[in-house]
Amino acid sequence: MPRFDNSPSENHSGSKSRRHIPYYLALALLLVASAAVLMTRPVVVHGSSLAVDPGPRPLPADAGNFYSNLTPNQNAITLRLTQIFTEVNFVAGGPLVKTVGLGPRFNSNSCNSCHAYPAVGGSSSPNNPLFGIYQLQGATNTMPYFITANGPVIVARFPYKSDGVTPDGGVHQMFTISNRTDAPGCTTMVQPNFTQAQQNNNIIFRQVTPTFGTGLMELIQDSDIIANMNANKTLKQSLGISGHAQFSDDDGTITRFGWKAQNKSLLYFSGEAYNVEEGVSDEAFPSENDESIPSCLPPFPVPPGTNKTKGVPDDRMDSGEAPKLPVNFPSDLERFSLFMRFLAPPTPVPPTQSTANGLVQFNTIGCNMCHTNSFTTPKSSIAALGNVQAFLFSDLLVHDMGPDNADNVNQGGATGDQFRTAPLWGIGQRYFFMHDGRTQDIVQAIEDHRSLGNGTYPNSEANQVISNFDALTPKNQQDLVNFLRSL
Ligand code: HEC
Ligand code: HEC
Repeated sequence: MPRFDNSPSENHSGSKSRRHIPYYLALALLLVASAAVLMTRPVVVHGSSLAVDPGPRPLPADAGNFYSNLTPNQNAITLRLTQIFTEVNFVAGGPLVKTVGLGPRFNSNSCNSCHAYPAVGGSSSPNNPLFGIYQLQGATNTMPYFITANGPVIVARFPYKSDGVTPDGGVHQMFTISNRTDAPGCTTMVQPNFTQAQQNNNIIFRQVTPTFGTGLMELIQDSDIIANMNANKTLKQSLGISGHAQFSDDDGTITRFGWKAQNKSLLYFSGEAYNVEEGVSDEAFPSENDESIPSCLPPFPVPPGTNKTKGVPDDRMDSGEAPKLPVNFPSDLERFSLFMRFLAPPTPVPPTQSTANGLVQFNTIGCNMCHTNSFTTPKSSIAALGNVQAFLFSDLLVHDMGPDNADNVNQGGATGDQFRTAPLWGIGQRYFFMHDGRTQDIVQAIEDHRSLGNGTYPNSEANQVISNFDALTPKNQQDLVNFLRSL
C-alpha cells in the first residue's frame, strides 16, 4: 500500500531530518544519539523514535457520512441539519432568519469553519479559515500572533485573571463585531491583548476536536466506563496508569466531551459552542458573551423588507414565523446535536500486515491501557446508534500528563495537567495533534506524552508506556505508527 511505504511525499512534520535515512544507518545514529543523550539528560529523551509519520492519508475523506441505517424520517432531515451546521452567521441581516446573532465577541462564524476536515464535522483544515473571516463586513480585527495560515484553528484561554493569581481558565474570543456594517453603532469593543497575555505567560491554546461518532460516545454507559477503569488494575499500576472519570456537578454522571472531558452532552456542547465560539446566545446559554458595551448588543436595525427582529437570546425554538416546516421549529442546538449524532465514526482503511502488527504492538506495550480499543453502546432511542461496538480508542477518563503538557486550566474534576485520553478514530487523516495542536508529526505526539513531574504536577501517567514504545524494534515502531495512520 503506497500510503504505508514511509515515503516522505506526504510529509507535514517539519522533522525532515528523520526521513530518507535507511534503517541500519538510523539504528547506528540512534545508538550514538542515545549514548549522547544518556550522558547529558538521563531520563527524558524526546523524539527518540526512528519511526516516520507517513502523514495524513489524502482525501477523499473516510469520515463525514451519516449512518447508513437511519430511518427515512431521520434521513429526510439530514440535509437541513447539514445546512445549520455549515451556515455562516451574521450580526444581523444575513440571508436566513436563523443566521443572525454573531458576536459581540467570537472566534468564528460557523461550526463548519473550525470542524471542517477531512469532512464537515471534523477537525482543523490545513488551510486556516480564520483569515477569510476576521475582517468580514468591514470588521477592524487584527489577527492574533498565534493564528497562522497553515496552522491549526486554536482558541485561547487565559489560565489566570490579570492579577496573575485568581483562576480564570475561560475562552477569550479572538474577534469582535466592532465596525462591521451589520453591527451599526458598535465601534469600541476591542480585542483581548494576546501579546500581553503571552508576555505574562498567561495564555494557553486548545485545538478543535472532531465530532464524528460522538453520538456513540454520548451513549456509552457510565458503568462500562467505570468497569473498564477498574480492569487490568495490576498492569496499570505497574505502568503508572490510573486516571479517573469526570463527573457532572449537575447530575453526578460521567461527562466526556472536550479535551478535559468537561462536557456532558452534544446538546450542552452545542449550546456552549454557539455562544462561546460564535457569540450567538441561545437557550442553553442565553446571555450575550459581553454586555459591557450596549451599542454592541442586539437588537440591531432590521434591514427593510424582512422580519428579522431579534432580541436575546439570538437563537431559540421558534414556531411563530409562518409559514414554516416542522423541521424549522427547534432551536439550532437540537439540529447541531442531531447532525453530530447522525455522523458515523470514521472508517479505517483495511488492515495490512504492517497495520495489523501495529495494533498488536499498540496493545502489547500498553497504549490500550488508556486508549481502550472499543466500547459497545446500549440500545438507543435512535436505533442506528444502539448496540454498536465503537472503536474510539479512548477510556473517556482524564489522566495526569505531566508539566510539559499542563495548561494550568482546571475544568470540573480535571486539574491543570489532566486530559481526556484523546479518541484516536479518524486520526489517520488528521493534520494537528495534542490539545494545543502543537505538532503535525504523529510520532512527536507519541513522544510528547512523556513528561517528568515537578513541584506542581506529577509524572505523566504515560511515561512507562512511551519508554516501551521507544524500546520496540524500529519495524514494530513503524508498524504501530502505520496502524495509527490507518484509523
Ligand atoms: C472557533 C472554532 C470553533 C467553532 C466555530 C466551533 N467549535 Fe466546536 N470545538 C472547538 C474547539 C477548540 C474544541 C475543543 C474545546 C475544548 O475542549 O477546550 C471544540 C469541541 C467541540 C465538541 C466536542 C467534541 C469532543 O469529542 O470532545 C463539540 C461537540 C463541538 N465542538 C461542537 C461544536 C458546534 C455544534 C459548533 C457550532 C455551534 C462548534 N463546535 C463551533 C472549536 C470550535
Ligand atoms: C496514560 C494514558 C495514555 C497512554 C498510556 C497513552 N496515551 Fe495517547 N493520549 C493520552 C492523552 C491524555 C492524550 C491527550 C493529551 C494532550 O492532548 O495533551 C493522548 C493523545 C494521543 C495522541 C494525539 C491525539 C490527538 O487527538 O491529538 C496520539 C496519536 C496518541 N495519544 C497515541 C498514543 C500511543 C501510540 C500510545 C502508546 C505508545 C499512547 N498514546 C499512550 C493518554 C495516553
